[in-house]
Amino acid sequence: MFADRVLSGMRPTGSLHLGHYHGVLKNWVKMQHEMECLFFVADWHALTTHYDSPQVIEQSVWDMVIDWLAAGVDPAHATLFIQSRVPEHAELHLLLSMITPLGWLERMPTYKDQQEKLSGKDLSTYGFLGYPLLQSADILIYRATQVPVGEDQVPHIEFTREIARRFNHIYGREIGFEEKAESAVKKMGNKKGRLYLDLRTRFQEQGDDEALLDEQQNLSHGDRERLFGYLEGSGKMILSEPQAMLTAASRMPGLDGQKMSKSYGNTITMREDEDSVSKKIRTMPTDPARIRRTDPGTPEKCPVWQLHQVYSSDETRAWVQTSCTSAGIGCIECKQPVIQAVLDEQRPMRERAQYYLDDPTLVKNIIADGCEKARELARDTMRDVREAMGLSYS
Ligand code: TRP
Ligand code: SF4
Repeated sequence: MFADRVLSGMRPTGSLHLGHYHGVLKNWVKMQHEMECLFFVADWHALTTHYDSPQVIEQSVWDMVIDWLAAGVDPAHATLFIQSRVPEHAELHLLLSMITPLGWLERMPTYKDQQEKLSGKDLSTYGFLGYPLLQSADILIYRATQVPVGEDQVPHIEFTREIARRFNHIYGREIGFEEKAESAVKKMGNKKGRLYLDLRTRFQEQGDDEALLDEQQNLSHGDRERLFGYLEGSGKMILSEPQAMLTAASRMPGLDGQKMSKSYGNTITMREDEDSVSKKIRTMPTDPARIRRTDPGTPEKCPVWQLHQVYSSDETRAWVQTSCTSAGIGCIECKQPVIQAVLDEQRPMRERAQYYLDDPTLVKNIIADGCEKARELARDTMRDVREAMGLSYS
């Protein structure tokens, strides 16, 4: 099995654009070959901000999965699922809420930021405040080790680590923990048991734990964990702390030179039709100082130049530099290679998407399989969590 497990989610709140492709999806496609990956549609997360327009979410869920597949996310390598189809996320969220200090949520930087940014909406809801905790449940339920996120989400991962630590601290000690640990020592046999107690003293006095590792081959996993907890005076680790995986900040420029974002209205969607793509690029603004064809321009002041930096070869870029600054070409001519490159990039995506659009049952099956796999993993964790919290009555 893989040591690392990657988990990431995306909110279905509209069509994906080339910013998502360059910023997130290309990275998913690469990672799926390197590590075990789980990618999910965060539909409950979308509801925390779009509770009054669920139609948008419903429409976006399937479109988004098709966009992922179009980008090259491969269901043979990654598990794709929908959050609400794994109801265990909600159970873990509820159980974690019991130990989550309100202050931790209220102090989250995204809480106030988003409320201000989406000021047209009343976001003083219970669900929205709990958003980061729902995210923690998403992550912890799969014992994910790596979570690829953008800069803005790093506090959520840090928060998740704190929740895991708090949970382990409170529930890591089973009832009768000391007795169970002592009986685990007895199971090691007389000689070894004595040796263990000896080593324990050595550990507590000198911090030496190497020798202990070799001495416990005849113990079950649970007993071993207990012994280590006993040894360190800590308890069992039930939930594991994830790492944020910061992807190299790829800032995909939009049609106006700002970062590509739906809220700026400067996007090209992933599967936008060819005529629309050409038209958008042909009409995008250029260096404002270049009014007439005969005026020389400055690429650094032109949004088209930023797209050349994403899409063009050194050679093409050199051509842009010389011909723009000498007024040797017109802007339409300069835009041509960018239009071509975007269309070339989108062609295989459009083809892959078409394959799935022609037979919607394919996508439904991919998601059904993914949900089933995810649920199995989630059920495992929930068994441990319920037991630790004293909820596995029989
Ligand atoms: N909050 C993330 C975002 O806004 C989406 C998300 C929800 C997520 N749950 C997650 C990302 C778990 C990573 C892991 O982009
Ligand atoms: Fe921009 Fe190219 Fe026109 Fe120069 S020639 S202003 S780089 S579009």
